[in-house]
Amino acid sequence: MTPEQIALVRKSWAMILPISDTAAVMFYAKLFDLDPGLKTLFRSDMKEQGRKLMSALNTMVSSLGMIDDIVPAVQLLGRRHVDYGIKDKDYDTVGTVLLWMLENCLEDAFTPDVRAAWVETYTLVATTMKEAAKSAAA
Ligand code: HEM
Repeated sequence: MTPEQIALVRKSWAMILPISDTAAVMFYAKLFDLDPGLKTLFRSDMKEQGRKLMSALNTMVSSLGMIDDIVPAVQLLGRRHVDYGIKDKDYDTVGTVLLWMLENCLEDAFTPDVRAAWVETYTLVATTMKEAAKSAAA
């Protein structure tokens, strides 16, 4: 990722943080709308789950540019997701939902450059998680 892309992700994420509870509610509503079958995999309180998701995303956004520091934690997260029953294709659904949530929260601030920077960010994290999941299975 370029420094410009990192700056775009940071700036747009700063606009999501003050509304993160709402953003998380929107996120899961859309996720279960696109794939109702995923509902059964979530066994904890959804408010708590929403906070965990936003907090994990916050750590990743803060760590862009020094991503090597968090690779081991992201790999562990990917391996835990195998136990949660998450398949590779679910990462595509979550990626779509993340972009949808950002678009709806950021509105005009969600420019094509901001979108591209988020695609890079999510792809980086999701690929690291999926690869760790695969090596755990092997
Ligand atoms: C960037 C990608 C993702 C991030 C940052 C993320 C973050 C998290 C975090 C922080 C937790 C809390 C538990 C833990 O730390 O192990 C969690 C649990 C979970 N995540 Fe993810 N996740 C991601 C991708 C996905 C995907 C693609 C799915 C598929 C629907 C998913 C479904 C779940 C489920 C089912 C749980 C367990 C909930 C429970 O125990 O009730 N996550 N995730």
